[in-house]
Amino acid sequence: MSKKRVLVLLGPNLNMIGIREKGVYGDETSQSIEMQIHEYAESLGFECEIFQSNWEGALIDKIHGAKGVFDGVVLNAGALAHYSYALRDAVACLRIPFIETHMSNVFAREPFRAHSVLSEVCAGVICGFGKHSYFLALQALKSLM
Ligand code: DQA
Repeated sequence: MSKKRVLVLLGPNLNMIGIREKGVYGDETSQSIEMQIHEYAESLGFECEIFQSNWEGALIDKIHGAKGVFDGVVLNAGALAHYSYALRDAVACLRIPFIETHMSNVFAREPFRAHSVLSEVCAGVICGFGKHSYFLALQALKSLM
């Protein structure tokens, strides 16, 4: 059986993890976390690609291109999760499972972060576990496949 392919899609400012708001996101760099995501995905038997962009359109293009290429997506859209209907519509174009993921507990922060326009079109939501949110999201995808 061929390996399932998963996309880990990261939105604006997630390349700045380790530098930005260390009190919220910790001081481990995005590069280090991405390496561990790759390792963990492989340990679950996935082929994994990680794509980060600060551009909404680039994320939407990547989602459109995921059709027929990936079997599931771990999506940390950053702040776009709170307001991007365009990203939501892109997610709704595909029939593969998306796991909405946030490193921080978005419910314990500023009120605008408590609402996501993506949750309704995702299979589930994981937040609040730092880098482990990504590992848990990969486990969630595994459970759906
Ligand atoms: C985030 C939470 C968002 O509210 C924020 O805008 C981010 C990161 C998280 O991973 O906790 O950029 O998605």
